[in-house]
Formats: sequence, structure tokens, C-alpha cells
Amino acid sequence: MLQTPRGTYDILPEDQPYWETVKESFKQTALSFGFQQITTPLLEYRSVFEKGVGEITEIVNKQMYRVYRSDLSPEEGEEEIVLRPEGTAPVARAYVQYGMQTWVQPVKLFYLGPMFRYEKPQHGRFRQHYQFGLEILGVSDPLVDAFLIGVVNELYQNLGLQQLTFKINSIGCPTCRPKMVNEVVRYFRASRELLCPFCQTKLTKNPLRIYDCKEEGCQQLIRNALVLVDLLCPACKDHFTQTLEYLDDLNIPYDLDFRLVRGLDYYTKTVFEVIAQEGEPSLGGGGRYDQLIELFGGPPTSAIGFATGLERVIEEMKARDIKVKPPNPPQVFLVYLGESAKKKSLSLLFALRHEGLQVGFALGKESLRSQLKTADKLKVPFVLILGQKESKEGTVIIRDMDSGAQETVEIKKLPGILRKKFTK
Ligand code: HAM
Repeated sequence: MLQTPRGTYDILPEDQPYWETVKESFKQTALSFGFQQITTPLLEYRSVFEKGVGEITEIVNKQMYRVYRSDLSPEEGEEEIVLRPEGTAPVARAYVQYGMQTWVQPVKLFYLGPMFRYEKPQHGRFRQHYQFGLEILGVSDPLVDAFLIGVVNELYQNLGLQQLTFKINSIGCPTCRPKMVNEVVRYFRASRELLCPFCQTKLTKNPLRIYDCKEEGCQQLIRNALVLVDLLCPACKDHFTQTLEYLDDLNIPYDLDFRLVRGLDYYTKTVFEVIAQEGEPSLGGGGRYDQLIELFGGPPTSAIGFATGLERVIEEMKARDIKVKPPNPPQVFLVYLGESAKKKSLSLLFALRHEGLQVGFALGKESLRSQLKTADKLKVPFVLILGQKESKEGTVIIRDMDSGAQETVEIKKLPGILRKKFTK
């Protein structure tokens, strides 16, 4: 049997109301705070992520899907194209490509779409997942950090997701990072043999990421490891303190998490994650990336952003029994009897639709019983019956499904009569 590839899934009709509700709510919240939508391609040059996210991060190193022409072997491909694993590097690429530094700053953008990561599929982790993201480019003030986290809080609250945990940390800037990395390496190197093999490689390649490791041996060392904010330069410390003060003003509770480092190399200063339940994968995460635009050939430009996975948001809504509005059910159901009525019913269906009525129709079903059965299943309040006689006379029977009462009316008066019934 043919199936979806591992780590991917179909969104079936019954789940669509969740997806539509979440997408629409996120979009409206972002628009109301002055964000504009950007849509970047699913395909990007590999270098966008290699440079942006970092060559030695797991996302770039192990999880990117390469795309090449089906008649060429990977080696014969032209410049390497990949399926995007995340949305920030493409937005930074677009900022430079379109010279957005000449736009009114900060440029506030949002995006929504699928991302691809070759991960081991498990609870809340897919190979194709959907992200909603926000990016604010062009301003370095800590007020922006707090503003963004405030908007994120609203995004979730507007969906009924309250009492989430915001974990926050600062991982410094190019001024304090080298010293920070040196100290971290010195600490972990002293107990190198207790680190897992992967963390031993991180010692030389990406030492801060050791803080991310879930292995018990590493965890023991991490528990007593250096607190990164103690190693911040005065400017970063000040930025962090001010961000926290603004969050206090907004009454957004947060947990200082001195072990939070995040998995992408572009981060500087503030990093944060949103958690629904301790031990569960994060609902969303983000942070500052003050060097990325320059790295892509643009002018020095501060920026901060956030993204959340739609699958995880929807799962959390279901876990909390948050209901969404089902799609509009049909208001009337059209039933026909005999050949000429069948023919007429098709144009009647479109005419009623043009009058703004939601019309159900048992397409192609002949027997009255099976047509009425469908109407019953849909719980439609009124059924319109078009028989041979009615078809000839230009009339139709309206049957009230609750009381069983029937009345015959002229087709041309039907929209007016139905409208009256629905405004009662
Ligand atoms: P990220 O933490 O890699 O950050 O992903 C953001 C969110 O996407 C996660 O919190 C999670 O909800 C969802 N997510 C990530 N990977 C998967 C997966 N395999 N399956 C299901 N959901 C997943 C970023 O991507 C950054 N671009 C966020 C950002 C924006 N930073 C600054 N601006």
C-alpha cells in the first residue's frame, strides 16, 4: 500500500478547522501588530543555511534534504539546492536581496509554511513540519526583544493557550563570546571522559551546544557548569537586564534558563523558548541574530525573531480541549426525483449559492431514501424537494426536518422565503 513518507502526514478534512483557525489567528495577530507577510521559496541554495544556520549545526550537517534534477546524479547537480529547514536565514537573505535596509526600520515580517528536516520521527517531531514565524529586522533596542516576546504571548493567548512557560537566556555577542567559549571549554575539558562522544566533538566544534545534551553523564556536568550570563560583557548584560525589566512591565512571567543555548548558530544575546509542559518538546523558540544580515553581505543590522510549530500548537490545543469552529454546515439540502427534476436541480443549486445560501446536495444519488439519509447525517434544518410535478410547475417543496411540516413554494420566491426562515 502506498503511504506518506516517514515523518510526514496528510491533514485530513476533519483536522482542517484546527489548521485554518491557527493560521488565521496567527496571521491576524501579526497583522494587528504591524507585521507584513513574506513568502519565500521552499527551495534555497544550500549556502543560505550553511552560512546562516551554521555548517556544523545538526540542522545543516545532518538534516537537510538536497534537491536535484531527476536525470542527474547528486554530483552532477548545479549549485546545491535544498529544501528549507527553517525560515530565518531565507528572510535574512531576502532582506539583503531586496535592500530592505532602505525600508522603514524595523522591518517586521511574518511567514507561514512547511519546513523540512531529516529527523528521527517521534512525538511532535516530523520531517515536514509547518512553522509560523515572526522576524523584526533593523533595531537593536531591548524594547524590541520584549515587544516580540509580548507578541508571541498574544499569539498563543488568542488561541486560548494560557500559562505557558517562557524560558529565556542570553548567549552574548562577538565581544563576550570568545571568552565565554574559552571558559566553557576549560570547564568541560577538565571532565572530558564523562562527556558523551557527540559532546566530545562539540568541545572543538560548538562548545556551547554541550548545554543542550540530554545524556545523563553530560547532564551531571551541565548542572554544575558555568552560568553563561555571568560571562556576558557589560553591554550584553545591560541588554539582558533591560529586556527582563520590560517583560516585568508587560507582566509576562519568564524562567531564567542559564542552560538554554538553542540549536542554530546565528543567535546572539537574547534566546528564548516557549514550553507547554516541562519535558515536552518546545512549542516555539527564537532569539536575536545581530550578525546574520552582515554575514549575508548586508549592512550591520540587528534582528530578532521567533517561530512556532503548528503541529505542536494544534496538539496542545487538543490536549487542553480547546474547541475550534467547524466549517459552515449546509443550511438547506436539495433532493430531486426523476430525470427532469435532476436536470433542474443543478441550476437551482448554483442559483441558491449565488443568493448566499449554503446548499447540500447528494451529487448523483438517485434514490430518495439515500438522498434523505445524507441530509439527515448533515443535520440540515430544511430539505428542498424537487419532484416531476414541482419541476414542471416551477415550484419546490420545503420540508422542515424538525417538525416534518411541508409547504410548496414558487422557485423564484424561494431565496426570499428561506432567508426569512434563517433570520427568524
Ligand atoms: P527552531 O527551534 O528550530 O527555531 O524551530 C522553531 C519551532 O518549530 C520549534 O519550537 C517547534 O515548534 C517547531 N519545529 C522544529 N522542528 C520541528 C520538527 N522536526 N517537527 C515539528 N516541529 C518542529 C527555528 O527554526 C528558528 N528559525 C526560529 C527563529 C526565528 N529564530 C529567530 N527567528
